[in-house]
Amino acid sequence: MRTDNGLPRATVLETVAFLAEVFVPTVAKGPIIRRPRAVAMAERLQLDSRAVRRMQKLDDKHRAGPLLLRLPIRNQAVVLRPTDLRYVLNNSPEPFSPASSEKRAALAHFEPRNVLISRGRERTARRALQEQALDSHSHVHRLADSLLPIVRQEADQLLASVGERGELNWDVFIESWHRMVRRIIFGDGARDDHELTNMLAGLRKDANWAFLKPKRRKVRDQFLSRVQQRLQTAEPGSLAYIMRGMEAHSEAAPADQIPQWLFAFEPAGMATFRALALLVTHGEKSARVQQEIQDDTSGRQHLPYLRACVLESLRLWPTTPMILRQTTREVVWDDGTMPQDCGVLIFAPYFHRDDRHLPQAHSFLPEVWLTRNPDDADWPLVPFSDGPVYCPGRQLVLMLTSAMLSYLIEKRQFSLASSQHLSPRDPLPGTLNHFSLRFTAKPAGL
Ligand code: HEM
Repeated sequence: MRTDNGLPRATVLETVAFLAEVFVPTVAKGPIIRRPRAVAMAERLQLDSRAVRRMQKLDDKHRAGPLLLRLPIRNQAVVLRPTDLRYVLNNSPEPFSPASSEKRAALAHFEPRNVLISRGRERTARRALQEQALDSHSHVHRLADSLLPIVRQEADQLLASVGERGELNWDVFIESWHRMVRRIIFGDGARDDHELTNMLAGLRKDANWAFLKPKRRKVRDQFLSRVQQRLQTAEPGSLAYIMRGMEAHSEAAPADQIPQWLFAFEPAGMATFRALALLVTHGEKSARVQQEIQDDTSGRQHLPYLRACVLESLRLWPTTPMILRQTTREVVWDDGTMPQDCGVLIFAPYFHRDDRHLPQAHSFLPEVWLTRNPDDADWPLVPFSDGPVYCPGRQLVLMLTSAMLSYLIEKRQFSLASSQHLSPRDPLPGTLNHFSLRFTAKPAGL
């Protein structure tokens, strides 16, 4: 069905099906901090696979333009085609602003001045600061020599505790991961500042409810002033230390850029843990990783195959499944006009798992990332988004996660002990509950 202005519009039934099978299950899992019970249920019912099938059905029926949903309160479009995805991402932040109403409502619970929800001059200043501090354009961050020893030390400590228990589970992994993250961001003095991470976790829980929960401004102020304090005392060799030394525009709000780091390193941990599960169940890929580690001359700074494994973990189970935009003015498409303030949703799992276009959509194929030229690839894979608003932490994340995996894998032989079925012979599940992944470990080579 088409609208007066030409863009296709979903029927009421299609809109309800989209909400029930795509939007609600994704939001229920927790967009800002995952809810363990909802993720477990999504895995049991394989809700992400169902969501992808619903998107395919919408695409089969509406072959042109972004699809406008039939919602009473808001103009909302869903992107179905690669060309439209590219158009939206390449034309961000104007006219497709990442500071959409629901994202502002959610993130303002803990980072009201963050780049992600800023516009205009403020966004420009904050984005520049982020790119500079995170060294976005470089495969190897300029602090690699001080950051990678931290990764190694925390990996060693983690392995020591795994040795005692004989098992690695998510709770043990993420606690150690957060220690590493705080050291990387602020320095060794912040290693055991669990309270900072817990304060943020509480605010992120509120953020899951976006508009529906009032802001706890006092708690937010306490959290932000603690971040500010940590920024002021950041140690040489940490990310915050280099940020402090930068000449920032008065609108850049440096301390307010840091909560996004603390927050976004958690999905990086999820991707690492899932990549470990993939590697231990895919012997051939694991052998290639071992070879890469043996041949490495970069001091773990650049491990292309392991980076590709992390990217593949993110393709299969994207940690940012919904990329959101909102139009800042009317936008004219080939098929019609999109109104101002229209929400635009890119549902990454649909593009990543569309088996009509990707013949091996449900297999673990890190090689895809080594041969892929993102500029001419005809099918978009966007775990870190794309275009001018893409994730400025991408390279840093890939450097740190691949190094962590290399340290874990070289010293222990892990086996998957939890019940998930991951095999090179069968399609990989649409949802993988990282909370319930468990590994046993014995010294490598035994
Ligand atoms: C697996 C880990 C991560 C993934 C998959 C990821 C992915 C993303 C995605 C999809 C976006 C949204 C871009 C858009 O709306 O188009 C984003 C934004 C952003 N990410 Fe990440 N991210 C990760 C970790 C990190 C880390 C660790 C940092 C910082 C240390 C970081 C910093 C940022 C920032 C500052 C933005 C806002 C960019 C802007 O609005 O211009 N990310 N990330």
